[in-house]
Amino acid sequence: RPYDVVVAGSANADLVVRVERRPASGETVAGSDLATFPGGKGANQAVAAARLGARTALLGRVGDDGHGALLRASLERDGVDVSRLAATPGPTGVALITVGPEGDNSIIVSPGANARLTEEDVAGAADLIGAARVLSLQLEVPLPAVLAAARAAEAAGTRVVFNPSPPAPVPAGLLALCDPLIVNEHEAAFLLGEDAPEDPEERASALLTLGPRSVVVTLGAEGAVVAGEGRVPSPRVTAVDTTGAGDAFTGALAWRLARGDGLREAAVFAARVGAAAVRRPGAQSSFPTAEEVEAL
Ligand code: RIB
Ligand code: NA
Repeated sequence: RPYDVVVAGSANADLVVRVERRPASGETVAGSDLATFPGGKGANQAVAAARLGARTALLGRVGDDGHGALLRASLERDGVDVSRLAATPGPTGVALITVGPEGDNSIIVSPGANARLTEEDVAGAADLIGAARVLSLQLEVPLPAVLAAARAAEAAGTRVVFNPSPPAPVPAGLLALCDPLIVNEHEAAFLLGEDAPEDPEERASALLTLGPRSVVVTLGAEGAVVAGEGRVPSPRVTAVDTTGAGDAFTGALAWRLARGDGLREAAVFAARVGAAAVRRPGAQSSFPTAEEVEAL
């Protein structure tokens, strides 16, 4: 197949200000100079995979503004195929991000063109999805488009990797196609509701009962859990900016699965990629090459 990883999903311009603390309602605080970074969960996953050596394409929409042009150019520089990244009249998706002293982030997403990705767009790109070993999905584009992409993958025998972020209800039919479902602890708690067990390994097993073929729960600095296969370690690093680390994990995992790795082996590698990504500012701007992962 000509592509390792095809991503159907979002692209955002990330507008980032570092702050000592976040303002309360009605309050003003001073922050750093504004930095504009390429982001969006879909584009982040695509770039994470591409930078590691994957043949990658992004299916999605940007606006017809300067941000859209910036994102397209940046994806091209990373070798991501953007022939199915459509330009839509109106604004590109934007994420307003504050980063705190511990590298922690708070994000407001303005969907812009991402909200205009349709089932028809995805149906029109069924050939692209079928040309990939792995399809990677998130929830920053409308659910009907996500569902259509997963169905096209199933029809073509393309493996589906899905991170339901930001968290929203997911139909059982979509969960059943995930191999794996990838969630952080918040997303796991959202999907499990009141029944969510405290223990991460029990959480992963509980998620498996919702129907996915496999499950990975990411634990930030503590690594990850693969349901039924135990803990995966993370290298110790100093966090500068954790934005996009989860997307780096997912993109890296998708790439290693596309190469034929087993899930646990792929998760061990992905945890190293996620750790590398927190050491530098921004999302895509912080994602490592294969050599950098090796050196970690
Ligand atoms: O997951 C991180 C991403 O979430 C950022 O790049 C931002 O665009 C938001 O979508
Ligand atoms: Na980062």
